[in-house]
Amino acid sequence: MRIGVLTGGGDCPGLNAVIRAVVKTAVNDYGMEVLGIKDGYKGLVEEEFVPLGLEQVTGILPKGGTILGTTNRDSPFHYRVRVNGQDVYVDKSEHAIDVIKRNGLEALIVIGGDGTLAIAQKFFEKGINVIGVPKTIDNDLSATDVTFGFDTAVTTATEAIDKLHTTAESHHRVMILEVMGRDAGWIALHAGLAGGADVILIPEIPFTIEKICAKIKERNDRGRRFSIVVAAEGAAPFGGKQVISGINEGNIYNPVKLGGIGKFVAEKIAEQSGHETRVTVLGHLQRGGSPTPRDRILATRFGSAAVYALARKEKGVMVCLKGENVLTVPLKDAIEQLKRVPIEGDLVKTAKSVGISFGD
Ligand code: F6P
Repeated sequence: MRIGVLTGGGDCPGLNAVIRAVVKTAVNDYGMEVLGIKDGYKGLVEEEFVPLGLEQVTGILPKGGTILGTTNRDSPFHYRVRVNGQDVYVDKSEHAIDVIKRNGLEALIVIGGDGTLAIAQKFFEKGINVIGVPKTIDNDLSATDVTFGFDTAVTTATEAIDKLHTTAESHHRVMILEVMGRDAGWIALHAGLAGGADVILIPEIPFTIEKICAKIKERNDRGRRFSIVVAAEGAAPFGGKQVISGINEGNIYNPVKLGGIGKFVAEKIAEQSGHETRVTVLGHLQRGGSPTPRDRILATRFGSAAVYALARKEKGVMVCLKGENVLTVPLKDAIEQLKRVPIEGDLVKTAKSVGISFGD
């Protein structure tokens, strides 16, 4: 059996660990042949493949990024081409299917987030066998308890909070850390809890500047003259909108770039409370670097499980973690709904019990 593997969407730590596990399991256990597809679905349309054997995946387990490259645009169903010096979008899906068939690929293992997996589902509906592997630092896919990459991102954000604490305390400042996560507050909530933040702002809970300032004042009155605010990029004030920093040209799944809420909050806090504020935008540091042991293990389990699913002749499924077990679910179900922080859930309740304000 010959299979293709691709990584799509934003990168995250652990992608190489999945690729390695796919190749090793496919070769060692089933004698399959694996072709790597370069730069996500773009490589499928442009027919850019690289053979992946045991040698090609040696030493990549601890490496961040993806040896295959990725892109978060270039869906074959909405593919950018230049015509007379202008960008136009065309449907190249039939061409991609022809490429898959001509190269004898009996199945694709697609490693990606919601957008990449939605495209995988469309190929499945057109008769291509696809197995999805969920990845994203945002941890916002509903069909799996957790995605790999999330633990590494939370670790990076927690380290940043620890570092901000010492300088905040020395200067008696309010430090705002803006983290990623799009429309879900998982990174902010986990890192904020782990790092002992004073205020956590998440998209699921609209905030007011008054409530944030009240928390800062309460601390000040107790002699704690500094505060740490962790703001998810998708957080928004009560009755207000998310802060958008740009447009993702050609990306129909995530058309806008979020960013700027940290600056907004810092300015308003300084205005209303008179405290000195500083902003740190953690940005793509959260997506880079070596995966944590937890992410390496989850990624390895997902990679092997994707090949087991193929060997069991499953079709159109995504591997996922449920409790202690790696299972499969129909891809269609996996992409239906985003997993957001439940505002009545245990994590938010615990955070409030230990004195963290959500600005609500
Ligand atoms: O989905 C992962 C993510 O890192 C989000 O948290 C963030 O909003 C977005 O991707 C940034 O994407 P880009 O790589 O296009 O800047």
